Amino acid sequence: MQKKITVVGAGNVGATVAQRLAEKELGDIVLIDILQGVPEGKGLDLLESGPVCGYDSLVTGTQRYEDTAGSDLVVITAGLPRKPGMTRDDLLLKNAAILKDVTVKVVKNSPECILIVVSNPLDAMCAVAMKESGFPRHRVIGMAGVLDSARFRTFIAQELKVSVENTHAFVLGGHGDTMVPLPRYSTVAGIPITELMSQEQIDRLVKRTRDGGGEIVQLLGSGSAFYAPSAAAAEMVEAILKDKKKVLPCAVRLEGEYGISGLFVGVPVKLGARGMEEIIQINLTTDEKSALQRSAKAVQDLVDVLKKNAYL
Ligand code: NAI
Ligand code: 2OP
Repeated sequence: MQKKITVVGAGNVGATVAQRLAEKELGDIVLIDILQGVPEGKGLDLLESGPVCGYDSLVTGTQRYEDTAGSDLVVITAGLPRKPGMTRDDLLLKNAAILKDVTVKVVKNSPECILIVVSNPLDAMCAVAMKESGFPRHRVIGMAGVLDSARFRTFIAQELKVSVENTHAFVLGGHGDTMVPLPRYSTVAGIPITELMSQEQIDRLVKRTRDGGGEIVQLLGSGSAFYAPSAAAAEMVEAILKDKKKVLPCAVRLEGEYGISGLFVGVPVKLGARGMEEIIQINLTTDEKSALQRSAKAVQDLVDVLKKNAYL
């Protein structure tokens, strides 16, 4: 039987996630949004791409959560994107209200699903989804690290004039200005970039990675990135539905790992059929540990605002 995947939010990220999932034939896809006609229209348009692209995934659009019932996996992209000059954190309370509403309805209809959260500010939205769902931590996973690492990989490949396929990178921490790209664990054909580049080059690439989301926001003038974010979310969905046991940087709730408790923070995890199957603890230098703690503190600040406003 086909897997059933729901994508909540039929905007730029959601519709492109649905397209990528259909093209990978990962299951039947339900696209849901509050807008009338938009999820239906995009769903039908995607369905009609099937004969040309060669996929048999059934794609449908709806506003009714009953149509999402029994989903194996739900990707939540509902929410407002950043506008120029806005930080991800400006979105906090508006998107917390949306996440709360959406999660309750999703879980009522698909109590056994795995949730992948995309909406920003990512780590804080994961906390709202976890609270409202009541799910164990292995079934609530945030997408950010795969995207941030993809940006770092792109810049490394460009700088060293090598194939992106030769590059691997780890960006940990919260999905914000304090994210923690790890050059020591970022490699070209297995060789750490610390052996291939000067410190000045690495610092420049790290900064561009941290500012990567903002760079696209500025260029677009309206809305934020969606091609790379949707590719990243689709990679996570594929790893889970195909039980690949793939190690990827994802936001998960830490309970003592990396010295952090009760917060969603990006760390390397193994993704498989159960969702987040293992947290991989890598050795960090004192500086790397401090950077991760600073990043966790930024997430904690948002969580504190959500607590004050009764979202957590
Ligand atoms: P968009 O504005 O194109 O689409 C958002 C969609 O959500 C709209 O169609 C809107 O009608 C829908 N929506 C709003 N409230 C809803 C509700 N209660 N129920 C169902 N649907 C609802 O925005 P885009 O570009 O798709 O971004 C979506 C979110 O993803 C934003 O919060 C953005 O910041 C975030 N994002 C996160 C990334 C990450 O790395 N974690 C990367 C890119 C985007
Ligand atoms: C990004 O990094 C906006 O969080 C989104 O592109």
